[in-house]
Amino acid sequence: LKKVSLFDNLNDDQLEHILRIANRRTFQTGTILFQEKDYGNTFYVVLTGTIKLFTRSNSGEEKILSLVNAGESFGELSLLDGRPRSASAQTLETTTVLELSSQTFMELLQTHFDITRGILAELCRRLRQTNEHVNDLTFLDGRTRVLKNLITLANQNGKRDGQIITVHMALNFDELAQMAGVTKIVLTDVIREFESRGVLQFGIGEYKINLLKLRG
Ligand code: CMP
Repeated sequence: LKKVSLFDNLNDDQLEHILRIANRRTFQTGTILFQEKDYGNTFYVVLTGTIKLFTRSNSGEEKILSLVNAGESFGELSLLDGRPRSASAQTLETTTVLELSSQTFMELLQTHFDITRGILAELCRRLRQTNEHVNDLTFLDGRTRVLKNLITLANQNGKRDGQIITVHMALNFDELAQMAGVTKIVLTDVIREFESRGVLQFGIGEYKINLLKLRG
């Protein structure tokens, strides 16, 4: 729990209390935790693994809104405004979460201003991220969006060794295309182009970026 930034200012007793009243659950890859438009009464904190939050078009196509990594949380909107879930949530790999009931979540907000402020800061971060996303979808072409997404993931999950960054990636190519807002054909064309130039190299569950070739 010490890695959860929302709980940064809680002491050990308070963290113990949360662990006692929360439900710890592990889900296998591909499990749907809830669907958009469901009624929600649970707040989630990710302890390990990754969750994708996505929305569907009327014709069933998916758009990934955001990924939630260890130490981050989701599912607060329905609890705060009483409306249905604004997105669906699915595990991208084996994922352990802490589940807090609506009542527990509200009690924490009432008793710990630091947590309330943390939730507000998280909502601010998401609004800024969504603005950037709208900007990207409006003004960048698909090829640039794919590259930007790969570089953003590298900044979040990459390990640098000299000129090579290795990035752990739980997304498959369909999901990577849904994140960048391009078709899978555009995605594979861009990847093929950069692989042939030696900038990118894709493997199972990871990819590498060659910074020397990227600059060239
Ligand atoms: P809720 O609507 O209860 O369930 C879906 C959750 O996804 C939502 O709460 C937020 O926690 C999260 N969410 C919805 N939209 C976004 C977004 N644009 N960026 C990041 N997270 C989001």
